[in-house]
Amino acid sequence: MDMFEAIFTRRSIRKYTTEPVSDEDVTLLLKAAMLAPSAHNCRPWHFVVVRDAAVRKSIAERHPYAKMAAEAPVVIVVCANLNEEKEPGFWVQDCSAATENIMLAARGKNLGTVWCGLHPMKDRAKVIRETLNLPSNIMPLSIVVIGHPAEAFSEANRYNAEKIHYDRWQ
Ligand SMILES: Cc1cc2nc3c(=O)[nH]c(=O)nc-3n(C[C@H](O)[C@H](O)[C@H](O)COP(=O)(O)O)c2cc1C
Repeated sequence: MDMFEAIFTRRSIRKYTTEPVSDEDVTLLLKAAMLAPSAHNCRPWHFVVVRDAAVRKSIAERHPYAKMAAEAPVVIVVCANLNEEKEPGFWVQDCSAATENIMLAARGKNLGTVWCGLHPMKDRAKVIRETLNLPSNIMPLSIVVIGHPAEAFSEANRYNAEKIHYDRWQ
């Protein structure tokens, strides 16, 4: 798929078919994730791949906006190991870039995704920490719900010239 087609037609998909997502495809998405840009190239990211239905159900029940995690065949929780950082704080950008790479790579494979936010909502991160048994140095950033789409990818155009400033703020 053309890169611009993937970017312009990636939409949050919240309905999935029952078709499984292959291990090969999950590995491909994780390869894309691990090629994201990273401050000092520390790559502090870790990924919890959740296929277990009971764990997905628990995530769906305990996160206020991730009900679709119970239905989708796979969920990837993008985390950072704070001990692998050089300059504290960049883990957020690193893991966000990795999250977006997963979503665009998924679009390239005609898989649907939705980013369910955790950080900086402490209550949501706490729930995921408990559910996945994360040690205290592992910070969860996002949940990416993944599956074959049961709704259409639609092209969007949100270009807004008012958001662009040339040379100085104006
Ligand atoms: C940081 C972040 C947190 C988000 N959290 C949720 C969420 O908890 N549940 C959800 O259904 N969508 C969530 N979204 C998806 C947004 O609602 C979605 O990207 C936005 O409405 C634009 O729609 P589009 O992705 O289809 O272009 C989140 C997106 C981001 C970037």
